Amino acid sequence: MSTTAPGATPRHYLMCRPTHYTVSYEINPWMHPDRATDTALAVQQWERLRDVYLDLGHQVSFIDPIEGLPDMVYAANGATVVDGIVYSAKFRYPERGPEGPAYEKWFADRGYVTHTAEQVNEGEGDILVVGDVLLAGTGFRTSTAAHEELSRLVGHEVVGLELVDPHYYHLDTALAVLSSDPADPQIAYYPPAFSPAALEQLQHRFPDAVIAEEQDAAALGLNAVSDGGHVVVAPAATRLAAQLRERGYEPIPVPTTELLKGGGGAKCCTLEIRLAPPA
Ligand code: ARG
Repeated sequence: MSTTAPGATPRHYLMCRPTHYTVSYEINPWMHPDRATDTALAVQQWERLRDVYLDLGHQVSFIDPIEGLPDMVYAANGATVVDGIVYSAKFRYPERGPEGPAYEKWFADRGYVTHTAEQVNEGEGDILVVGDVLLAGTGFRTSTAAHEELSRLVGHEVVGLELVDPHYYHLDTALAVLSSDPADPQIAYYPPAFSPAALEQLQHRFPDAVIAEEQDAAALGLNAVSDGGHVVVAPAATRLAAQLRERGYEPIPVPTTELLKGGGGAKCCTLEIRLAPPA
């Protein structure tokens, strides 16, 4: 692993240790409460992910896990932070409801200006920043009303994308942002996860996108974290890793199989804190 892949820029991530991780309810098709989970293994995989970020030179902050909130490890859902503005999450399912205020408090306690969402949204699980544009998933979790609320708040264009396959219930399970450079934004996505109108948008805006194959998507390979140069990706997504290499990215395989039982991978465990651009 090199720490200097071309295009890589230092990031600030927020993570939540999976101390209380288990699958005790079912809100997506990956979750099977009758199947055993291994919390110690989840912690081990999460620690490895954290160490990879630190080795790459990224800053990582931590929010304390709360007992009774087993999905809190999926930090991406905790809020959306764009240009230093924190838009809180408001979860679709009551099981995850308390996570929204917990993450919002984390930011408020550290001096961030936070905005409590009125509309249902699941943070950076459904909101992805690509250059000057926000791609926003809907269909399963985040409402289109939240897209509008966010657009008003941050003043960026928000492109709504409807998801149609319940296995890809959050945008970050079906689409990965590889480069957020406004001059040359790049994404990877899995077309069958999107409605025809959403596909048209993606083809039009990103004609050069990496198109993922079913096998890689089904390993949640698109739930990847890119710093613009390195891409942390599920090891099973071998074809996707090869496609990334062809494009000049350095794929870094990090196993997240235990966290996959809850329906998440590396990206789900990672909330990016994007600060205001320098004036
Ligand atoms: N069990 C969680 C849920 O269904 C998984 C969330 C995964 N997070 C993500 N950013 N896709 O809500």
